[in-house]
Amino acid sequence: MADRPRLEGDRLVLEPLRVEHAQEMAVVLDDMALHTFTSGEPAKFREKAMAAGAVAYPYGTVFAVEFAHGLRDGEAQLMRDGSGTPLKADVARIDVMRRERGYGEVYGDSRAGEWEFASYRPDGTPLIAPGNAGACAACHRKAGAERDFVYGLRVPSK
Ligand code: HEC
Repeated sequence: MADRPRLEGDRLVLEPLRVEHAQEMAVVLDDMALHTFTSGEPAKFREKAMAAGAVAYPYGTVFAVEFAHGLRDGEAQLMRDGSGTPLKADVARIDVMRRERGYGEVYGDSRAGEWEFASYRPDGTPLIAPGNAGACAACHRKAGAERDFVYGLRVPSK
């Protein structure tokens, strides 16, 4: 895109629209309140922009995954519920990733965007501190920038 000038007055700044603005525009354009009168549906702008790699999860986003041992019977066989899902025993650890401005630099070439990773025991003590979580970053890097290095890609609806 050709570089257009930024116009600045006492009360107003006019900035040429860039792809980086999609992050904040997604919030504005997909606001449900906008659709109260048009009776339309939100355009899933964030979802589309994310698929195009223009939008990341907001700073402050935290994802957590709980790992649990399976419940076993006397013969050490996994016990399952009626639909075949293994029954849960003790939680083994909780893996966490968090996105903040500038996070992830410590992982160097393995960096997965602005995420830092850590793993905790159920009592809250660290199993893998963020500074040692390069292996987590290296694998999440493979999820790709277009999904902001998140595998599950459960896109927030707004
Ligand atoms: C070998 C690759 C690999 C490594 C290493 C790895 N992950 Fe993941 N991680 C995945 C995959 C694949 C998923 C999606 C799994 C699913 O949804 O069932 C995932 C899911 C997650 C999620 C949920 C968000 C998402 O991306 O879906 C978190 C949080 C997470 N991992 C944290 C960690 C942490 C912390 C570490 C290091 C202690 C780690 N991961 C190491 C592959 C990896």
